[in-house]
Order: sequence, then structure tokens, then C-alpha cells
Amino acid sequence: MQNFDFHNPTKVLFGEGVISRLPEVLPDGPILLLSGGGSIKSNGVYDQVMNTLIGRVVFEVSGVRPNPTFEKCMEAVEIIRKEKIGFILAVGGGSVVDSAKFISFAALYEGNAEDILRRQDTLVKKAVPFGAVLTLPATGSEMNCYFVISQGEEKLSGGNPLLYPQFSILDPKVTATLDKRQIGNGVVDAFVHVMEQYLTYPSDAPLQDRFAESILLTLIEEGPKSFRNPQDYKSRANYMWCATMALSGVVGSGVPHDWSTHAIGHELTALYGLDHAQTLAIVFPAMMWVMKDEKNAKINQYAERVWKIADHQDPFQGAFRKTVDFFETLGLPTKLSAYGIKEDVALKVISRFEKRGFQPMGEKGLVTLDKIREVLRVASQ
Ligand code: NZQ
Ligand code: ZN
Repeated sequence: MQNFDFHNPTKVLFGEGVISRLPEVLPDGPILLLSGGGSIKSNGVYDQVMNTLIGRVVFEVSGVRPNPTFEKCMEAVEIIRKEKIGFILAVGGGSVVDSAKFISFAALYEGNAEDILRRQDTLVKKAVPFGAVLTLPATGSEMNCYFVISQGEEKLSGGNPLLYPQFSILDPKVTATLDKRQIGNGVVDAFVHVMEQYLTYPSDAPLQDRFAESILLTLIEEGPKSFRNPQDYKSRANYMWCATMALSGVVGSGVPHDWSTHAIGHELTALYGLDHAQTLAIVFPAMMWVMKDEKNAKINQYAERVWKIADHQDPFQGAFRKTVDFFETLGLPTKLSAYGIKEDVALKVISRFEKRGFQPMGEKGLVTLDKIREVLRVASQ
């Protein structure tokens, strides 16, 4: 096992009705309530939150869009500075929570906030505290310290230990208004988060492997139930906790990671506007295909323990097919052409990586530009 530090300070309140407990965790003083395009107003979450804030000074910024932008975040930064707000309450999906993180850094950063996006986030030493009421299980942002923000044609990610939410409030009931597209996206995003911390090489970490496999198996059991039935509270609760655990640090401590699927996926979103999880459904199986020799030992383990591929079957073929079928039954096609993308995507993606100064990716640095070209060729067929 590799050495690791593990410290996750986010307090989670989980279960039906927990939004009413907001006053227990919210500090005194004026707050900024940050939200998305209006789902919280139509599904009652906004009212539930506001009922707990009676008598409090609340400023609001709404309109954070999926794949949130730097410009929108800076709108909130201005208000925080002007009104001397000391706490941000993010109410929404991963895009709103990610924005709260970036805003929390940018509001106290004296330099150019764009620096934070350009990977100089380690220079920042303070952040406005924030908490979340999560309405969409997918990203794990509610219990991790990462954010993804778009600027112009770029989708950029960052992270810092100062950016763990102080608390996250997770009521599975509020997921009932998500449409099938968002549920499918959420299950696939969580699944791929686990896979990118699991499908690497064996590293004498059987506990982390079993953490990973338990989340994958639970998503395989509960994801389709959640997809089919918005009122199935039991499955929504299990899927929601899986998504949080998938990227909270538990699975990934002490083991190698391979975030190349996410990195390529972010480029596809930036270029073609695909949903985050759609890009993962396209890239992950193709990455598995191209890197099957390098990942052979873990692919065999994945085939046997997660998909129960019988001894006489080819583990790679079996696990590959099952993974593709799983994504597709959740409404996410795994080929670029299914999203209407027929051109040579590789040229564009590679030139974007080159411009930014490409470093080979993957658990052993074996995902080179040539491999990425190959991955996108496989995803195009
Ligand atoms: O904007 P509103 O009106 O709220 O509608 C949203 C949005 O249209 C809607 N929605 C959310 N909760 C709802 C609801 N609709 C009905 N009922 C509810 N309860 O869902 C739509 C998508 O929301 P969004 O927040 O964009 O989705 P998601 O949670 O999947 O977040 C995606 C973003 O997170 C980033 C992605 O790149 C993308 O920008 N990621 C962040 C990560 C992290 N911080 O660790 C890791 C991930 O890999 C990911 O990259
Ligand atoms: Zn993701």
C-alpha cells in the first residue's frame, strides 16, 4: 500500500427531512445562498431551506449553470466582498457546490482570481467557509475538496484541503424530481470515479479494493432501480451515499489513480457541450480497451468480483461488455457517433492538451498522446 494522509472534515447529515436541521450546522452572520437554474424553486427545496433561515440575513445568487463558469462565480465574489459575507450555502448539484468552492477561494484571494484556475490554487491560504444542501448525487463534491470550473472554451479543475464543505445535507427525497438523464448521469459518474481509483494495478490494498467493489456492486444493484423509479426512496438513498463515498477519499487512499478518462472527458464537454457523465460513458470503455494489457490484473479482478464472469469466459471481453451494457441501460450511449459527433475528435483534443503542456497520464504515466488518439478512435467506431 502507498503512504497516505486521510483527513475528511465534512460533517454529513443524511436522510429524509434533514434539511430542517440546517440551523444546527449553519454559523451566525450573513450568508450567501448560491443556487442553479431554478430546480430548487420548483421542487420545494428552496422553501425548505428558506424556512430554516427566517430572521437571518441572506443574500442570493442564482443561475449557476451546469459546467459552471468563472464569470458567474465572480458575480458572487463581488457580493461577498461588498457585503462582508462570511459563509456560503450551496443548494443544488455538483455545479453549484463546485462554484461555492471556487468562490470561497476567489473571494479572499488578493491576486487575479484566474490564477487559481490556472493550477496555482496551492498559493491560496484561506477560504470563506461553506456548506451544501445537495440535490443531485453524482460528483462527490459534497464531501471532497475539488472543483471544476469553465472559462471560455476550457474546463479546468483544481482542489485544496481548505475546500472541504463544513457540512453537507443529503436528503434522498429531494432527488425525486431529477429526470432519467440526470439519474443515469449520476450513477455513471459515481461508477467511473470508483473505477479511476480501482482499475490500475494491484497495490496490496485489499481493503480499498473491497471498498471500491462494494460501491460498484451497490451502484449496479441500486442504480437501475433509481433510474426506473423516482419514488424508490430506498434505492435513491443507497445510490446517493454511493456517489458521496465514491470520491470522498476513502476508496482512493493509498492506491494508484488514473484520472485520464476524466481529463479527456472534460475536453469533450468543453468542445461539444456533452454532459460530464456522457463523456465518461464514451471514454471509459475505450480507455479500458486500449489499456487492457497494462490493467490486466485489475481487469481480471473486476471481472471476477464485480461482474462474476465465469472461469471459462474471457475476463476482459466479459467485463468490457457488462460495463458498456450497464452504461447503456442507464441511458448513456458509449460511442461518439450516438451524440452526433462524427468528425475526427482526436485532432482537436490532442491539440488542446499540447497547448496546455501535456504530461502523460494514467497510473504509470502510460497514457500518452498516441494512446489518447487510439482511445478516441475506438470511441468513434
Ligand atoms: O440548475 P438547476 O435548475 O438546479 O438544475 C440542475 C441542472 O440542470 C438539475 N438538478 C439538480 N438537482 C435537481 C435538478 N433537477 C431536478 N431536481 C433536482 N433535485 O440537474 C442539472 C445538472 O446539475 P449539475 O449540478 O450540473 O450536475 P452534476 O451534479 O452532475 O455536476 C456536474 C459538474 O460537476 C463537475 C462536472 O465536471 C460538472 O461541471 N464535477 C465535479 C467533481 C468534483 N467536484 O469532485 C468531480 C466530477 O468528476 C465532475 O467533474
Ligand atoms: Zn466525474
